[in-house]
Amino acid sequence: MSLLPPPASTPRTAVVTGASSGIGLAYARALARLGHPLVLVARRADRLQDLAEEVERDHGVVAEVLAADLTDPADLARATARVGAGDVAVLVNNAGIGGYAPFAEVDAATVSAVNALNVHAPVALTHAAVPHLVARGGGAIVNVASMLAFSSGLTEDFFPARATYAAGKAYLVAFTRLLAGEIAGTGAVAQVLCPGMVASGFHAGAAAPGLPLMAAEDVVTASLAALRTGEVICAPGLADPAAVDALAGAERALLFSGGTSPTLADRYRAA
Ligand SMILES: NC(=O)c1ccc[n+]([C@@H]2O[C@H](COP(=O)([O-])OP(=O)(O)OC[C@H]3O[C@@H](n4cnc5c(N)ncnc54)[C@H](OP(=O)(O)O)[C@@H]3O)[C@@H](O)[C@H]2O)c1
Repeated sequence: MSLLPPPASTPRTAVVTGASSGIGLAYARALARLGHPLVLVARRADRLQDLAEEVERDHGVVAEVLAADLTDPADLARATARVGAGDVAVLVNNAGIGGYAPFAEVDAATVSAVNALNVHAPVALTHAAVPHLVARGGGAIVNVASMLAFSSGLTEDFFPARATYAAGKAYLVAFTRLLAGEIAGTGAVAQVLCPGMVASGFHAGAAAPGLPLMAAEDVVTASLAALRTGEVICAPGLADPAAVDALAGAERALLFSGGTSPTLADRYRAA
């Protein structure tokens, strides 16, 4: 089943960032299986070339290799230009790094890289793609966030020190939900994918051994199914999506139960 309906002349190219490993690799294979020509983006060109040859052989789709470090402004500009060329129907902003460390100790280069790769690049690439999707009345943006986007109020020790990472993923959640609302009714859709822990290169050498990990292929299966059903927040491991609906309820309660009142709340009045 394709993400896009006929006519066959409709552009169908899918761009996957971080396609050299993990969730991006699984996404690229799944989209190739659905017949989408691919643009594969990551730094490790050799892996992308092997994948391009694999999907061309196995699924008969053309796959371009776009070797790019998306934290590098010139490389991001090349990727943005490719996404904005007009033939892209699916954009999967998947490339991401953790950079876990206490904020007081983490070096500035890591903070910049996490923000550049996890936030700035997906926003720039989405900005290049969306006008074409809206004009054509179809296509999909998938931004890969994380369940850690919802963890900023949680203090349990087993969570990693994650101020930059989790805040960036929370940005992607807010950005994608708002974008989905803006483009609703155009035929184009936006999804924010929020995996829990996934078996990939992400945890290499770092994850506590023995933690249960979801297969990257299952994450992609959930995302593709959610694109068909119209879920904006896709949480692959969440059995009951009512918890997602409750988020909007909590926002509504916060804003409309006094949060925007012009009257100073009693607890802030000078003693
Ligand atoms: N694994 C998890 O438990 C988990 C959970 C929730 C969310 N996520 C999110 O899922 C996404 C994919 O991660 P993954 O788990 O599949 O990890 P992964 O196996 O480490 O894959 C990360 C991908 O990002 C690419 N990448 C890293 N730095 C890059 C850069 N500077 N420029 C371009 N590409 C870059 C890597 O390719 P190159 O090294 O070749 O550049 C690789 O293809 C990330 O956004 C991550 O935050 C992961």
